Amino acid sequence: MKTLEHPSLKSLNTFGIDATAALLLTIETEEDILSLPAFDPRKDFMLGAGSNVLFVSDVPGTVFLNRISGKIIIAEHDDQTQIEVGAGENWHQLVRWSLDQGLSGLENLSLIPGSTGAAPIQNIGAYGVELSSVLEQVTAWDWQQSARVTFNRDECRFGYRDSVFKSRQTDRYLISSIRLRLDRRFRPQLEYKGLRKALSSEGIDRPDPMQVSDAVIRIRQQKLPDPAVTGNAGSFFKNPVVSMDEAEWLCSRFAGLPTWPASADRAKLSAAWMIEHCGWKGVCENDAAVSSQHALVLLNQGQASGRQILALSAKIAKSIEQTFGILLEAEPKIYQVPEGSQGPGSGSRT
Ligand code: FAD
Ligand code: EPU
Repeated sequence: MKTLEHPSLKSLNTFGIDATAALLLTIETEEDILSLPAFDPRKDFMLGAGSNVLFVSDVPGTVFLNRISGKIIIAEHDDQTQIEVGAGENWHQLVRWSLDQGLSGLENLSLIPGSTGAAPIQNIGAYGVELSSVLEQVTAWDWQQSARVTFNRDECRFGYRDSVFKSRQTDRYLISSIRLRLDRRFRPQLEYKGLRKALSSEGIDRPDPMQVSDAVIRIRQQKLPDPAVTGNAGSFFKNPVVSMDEAEWLCSRFAGLPTWPASADRAKLSAAWMIEHCGWKGVCENDAAVSSQHALVLLNQGQASGRQILALSAKIAKSIEQTFGILLEAEPKIYQVPEGSQGPGSGSRT
């Protein structure tokens, strides 16, 4: 376990926000967890690769940085293989490693930034697939009980960009590893708009898993700004989920608003379309901006603070509410210690 006092967090979050912490503690093994100090959710923070967090304030306590590594095949049954992966492993490298092993199931989730341990937090999803479709088990440290615990898939209570870890039991568990069930027999999932087309345009009608992964990578590189070039956390807002009736009514008022079925009786609306419709695409205030490549992505174009990005997001949300009557919900974790409680030991989280 490594420790560093008063670190800058700028290189540890993809928004590139220049926040600091009192202490950075890097967890490198499962054994390290047993000697960790207590976690105080009012002033400490658990960090993976920082690709889904906006630091609006400094962290007055300790940042617990998860770098537990390791990938092992633990069981093989007929056409399926179970693997166990350390929380600190890079997600995209895991996807490509699994494909190299002849295992499929993760190809649609290629190039999502971040650590493997954070993947269950919001049940990462892209191109028609969510983590929940392959996840078997999560192993975590329960800060409240000081005990190692496991969750099966049902216990994770996965939803769209949601899990028990994100909403019901926020900050209670430090995820140390996850177990996935992957396929040896490929079952392509090409329903997401644009994916089959991207493959056909390459002359590929019966793709293998690696070809699907490559196509997803190409689409993502065209659509989304690269955080290594301009700071961002991917989609800043979730796509709103409403009743079918409300979706129909909105579509009758706003021709062209894209909607998709979210369940038997709910529909998902395109937040990007609504933001673009309200004229926000490409808008820049100080160094906080709305990407001109994708309206759902907020950018730090240089020296923006977390507060400036949050202020821009609030203006966008207000205009969407006024125009569509829809409340947008932020997707990334907004880390903010209230004014006046910045000192170690006195912080609290909103
Ligand atoms: P962090 O940002 O470090 O943390 C996110 C949250 O998880 C925080 O609340 C943190 O406290 C908590 N956390 C992190 N690790 C642990 C742990 N081990 N134990 C307990 N809590 C933990 N997401 C999608 O779902 N689909 C996409 O297509 C997608 N595309 C993206 C594209 C770009 C360009 C970017 C920048 C982001 C994108 N994201 C996407 C969001 C992000 O990649 C995922 O949410 C990712 O899982 C975050 O991983 P992380 O390690 O960076 O988490
Ligand atoms: N659109 C616009 N303007 C834009 C961009 C998109 O009007 O600037 C419209 C287009 O009509 C397009 C539709 O929005 O057809 C949907 O766009 P896209 O396919 O890019 O998907 P998204 O809904 O914007 C979601 C996820 C992404 C994920 C992709 C692919 C959320 C909040 N975002 O984006 O996840 O990669 O689908 O599955 O669900 C993330 O979570 O950070 C993320 C990037």
